[in-house]
Amino acid sequence: MDIAELNKIARAMVANGKGLLAADESSGTIKKRFDAIGVESTADNRRDYRELLFRSADAMTNNISGVILYDETIRQNAKDGTPLVKLIEAAGAVPGIKVDQGAKPLAHCPGETVTEGLDGLRERLIEYHKLGARFAKWRAVIDIADGIPSYACINANAHALARYAALCQEQGIVPIVEPEVLMDGGHDIDTCARVTEFVLKEVYQQLYYAKVQLEGTILKPNMVIAGKKCAKQAGVAEVAERTVKLLKACVPPAVPGIAFLSGGQSDEDATAHLNAMNAGHPDLPWALTFSYGRALQAAPQKAWGGKADNVAKAQAAFAHRAKMNGLAATGKWQAALEKKAA
Ligand code: 13P
Repeated sequence: MDIAELNKIARAMVANGKGLLAADESSGTIKKRFDAIGVESTADNRRDYRELLFRSADAMTNNISGVILYDETIRQNAKDGTPLVKLIEAAGAVPGIKVDQGAKPLAHCPGETVTEGLDGLRERLIEYHKLGARFAKWRAVIDIADGIPSYACINANAHALARYAALCQEQGIVPIVEPEVLMDGGHDIDTCARVTEFVLKEVYQQLYYAKVQLEGTILKPNMVIAGKKCAKQAGVAEVAERTVKLLKACVPPAVPGIAFLSGGQSDEDATAHLNAMNAGHPDLPWALTFSYGRALQAAPQKAWGGKADNVAKAQAAFAHRAKMNGLAATGKWQAALEKKAA
């Protein structure tokens, strides 16, 4: 393992004012997104859509450090025959790949899942590295509801994340370690904080047992936030302060960067929360940035609607969100900048 090289890639992924575009929706998830805008989910439409994102020169060169791809996309060519991976590299961004195979029901733990995909992972990583991937993503899912999460679920998911991360590093690929505590429930912010703390402590313990070198990893966590169905929602400052406090208590300074998921927050909330953390804490040991899927793509998807005529409009919508989040990654975003663009 070349830890200096892994650390260099990880630092590039969280470079100042840049963050990650999570464009790794599985076939099922991208179909859901396309259904919402009335577009049929064919291989060509998926290609056209992702090509328009990767050809958004403004966003890709200025604010996107890397792109998380799905297996289909890393093998796909643009309409003119250029591999999509080459478009990403040409913009100066790092190609990455989702390597987990989804969250599956966990035996003896009703309502809970464990993320699968370790079997054959070494061989798949070797192939993905040849295809250009320099980082990978594995998403563990922890749900909060009556009586859950169980320790069995947290432990199984943390253990799988650690085995995945070790395999990635062995193959010269930076692992994004993503233990997502879902914000779908009715739980309050205190419960989110308690569960997230437990999960992160367990994840770093398992990474240590698996001999993972933290300097060559990126953490992709949820923020500390109330469940969507909770009547009492915290303000921007509270989410930012509680998230930073919790990360300081759980994430060693050897980790180069933390790139949040958006998890169903509105576009502007996801930006405002990240901005408040960076504006209030310019002295953190790790870079704090974004690895957003929905919060970067909802606007361009809506503007595109599957029509070639709308490509420029969709690219402008993507560039705007990328720029807003790039500013948030340096603590320089202001709500007024959103209104001006609208
Ligand atoms: P969201 O930002 O839409 O949560 O997606 C990020 C991601 O990659 C989840 O695994």
